Amino acid sequence: MDNAKRMAAERAAEFVRDGMRLGLGTGSTAAHFVDCVGERVAAGTKLICVPTSEATRKQAEKLGIPLSTLDETPELDLTVDGADEFDQELRLIKGGGGALLREKIVANASERMIVITDASKSVARLGRFPLPVEIVPFGAEATRRAITRMLVDMDQTGAIRLRMGADGLVFVTDGGHYIFDCALGSIADPDGLARALHEIPGVVEHGLFLGLADAVIVAGDAGIKIIG
Ligand code: 5RP
Repeated sequence: MDNAKRMAAERAAEFVRDGMRLGLGTGSTAAHFVDCVGERVAAGTKLICVPTSEATRKQAEKLGIPLSTLDETPELDLTVDGADEFDQELRLIKGGGGALLREKIVANASERMIVITDASKSVARLGRFPLPVEIVPFGAEATRRAITRMLVDMDQTGAIRLRMGADGLVFVTDGGHYIFDCALGSIADPDGLARALHEIPGVVEHGLFLGLADAVIVAGDAGIKIIG
C-alpha cells in the first residue's frame, strides 16, 4: 500500500515545473509527494508552496521547502493531495486526516488539483467512507441534530459521530473546530447534500470535494492509471 502511495506521488511530481506555486496536501499519500517536492527543491527546482495543514507545514519545513501562505500567494498553479474516496466523475470524500477545510480552500485557489491515491479508494458511489463535516464547537449538539433532520429530509440516514483523537479527547482541527463523521453508506445526491450541509448554521465545511479535482492518479498492482 505504501509503495502504491509513493508511486502515485512520484507520478504527480512529474507535473511539477520550475517556478510553480504549489499546494501541498495532507495525509500519508500527500506526505510522499511532499518528500518528492523536497527532493526537487534540493536538486535546485524553484518552487513556492502552501501547506494544507500544520503537519504538512512541519514536514515541508524540515525538508527545506520554501513556504508561503494563501494571503501572500492567493493563487496557486497546482495542488496535489490525497483522498479518502473517489468516483469516476472525480468527486471526492476528503477529511479523514482532519484537514478538509484548509485542503478545500487551497484546492479552490489552485488552477489544477491532482489527487494521488491507491486503488482501494475507488468507489462506484461516494459514501462508503464516513463523510467528515467540520463544525464550530459552539452548539455542537444542536448542529448534530440539525444535520440529522436534514439527512432524514433527504432520505439519507446514518450515524453521526463526534471525532475523537488518539488521546481520548475531542479531535480539534487546525482551525479550532470539531468534526462529525457521518456514516452514510451511500450518498445518492452529493451535490444536494453539499448544498444542504452549507445551509446549516454551525457547519463550517464538509468533505465532499465536487468539481475540484482535475485528475486522479491511481496506483495499483497493474501500475499507474490516470483518470481525468
Ligand atoms: C486529510 C485528507 C487526506 O488526504 C485523506 O485522509 C487521505 O489520507 P491518506 O493518504 O493518509 O489515506 O483528506 O484531511
